Amino acid sequence: MRTTISDLAARKKRGQKWAMLTAYDSMVASILDQAGIPVLLVGDSAGNNFLGEENTIPVTVDHLIALSRAVVAGSESAMVVADFPFGSYESGVDAALATGIRFFKEAKVQAVKLEGGAKVVPQIQALIAAGIPVMGHLGLTPQSVHALGGFKVQGRGDDGERIKADARALAAAGVFAIVLELVPEELAAEIAAELTIPIIGIGAGKLVDAQVLVWTDLMGLTRGAPKFSKAYLDGRALMVEAASQWATDVASGSFPGPDQTFH
Ligand code: KIV
Repeated sequence: MRTTISDLAARKKRGQKWAMLTAYDSMVASILDQAGIPVLLVGDSAGNNFLGEENTIPVTVDHLIALSRAVVAGSESAMVVADFPFGSYESGVDAALATGIRFFKEAKVQAVKLEGGAKVVPQIQALIAAGIPVMGHLGLTPQSVHALGGFKVQGRGDDGERIKADARALAAAGVFAIVLELVPEELAAEIAAELTIPIIGIGAGKLVDAQVLVWTDLMGLTRGAPKFSKAYLDGRALMVEAASQWATDVASGSFPGPDQTFH
């Protein structure tokens, strides 16, 4: 049985914090699922962390459907949330519904996430009315990186009121959780205290209900990972070492050995 939106609501009531990680393939999804991570996000951060793009903007629905299918196939217990990529919902309700229905039928995810505040409320309401749970995303919204003038902290000073108003609008529209990215801890704490839905922070301090990280940042694979992430493993160094050790063994003739040889 996978984590449900009711499970997450109950965790908020109990004051139980939880973790969400991105995943872009079935192998990693199975590892994170085995670790007991309750929510896996097939983020459009696949753009820079999987597809080799500079940012999330070139990511398409077709890309994320293929990756989401793999994450669903690789996991048993986690709720899988698919990100709506740039260009797949902004034009209105019809576009958002078409995208959501594709993610549900073709990738079999349990929820979707989209960026933006009050201006995407009609899309959110239409998705929820169609039976598709929606996670919101406010603060630094990477799809708007050019409009925001770069990757910088959002909601400082008076701008905090704009983010609070957007969070209230999303909650009233029925989202089951909101990601708050790169905002001051005090602002995130106020929103988490006011709203009854879980607030998931990334670069938003610890006074929220949940945390999300990009899995390659957590495992120490990303070059130049953001300051708000933390590597719990020196994964890049370990993988470089393993690959170069194997290449050395091939060159010296010590791989394959007797255990890898058939007669
Ligand atoms: O795409 C993504 O990975 C995200 C998280 C960073 C929240 O949106």
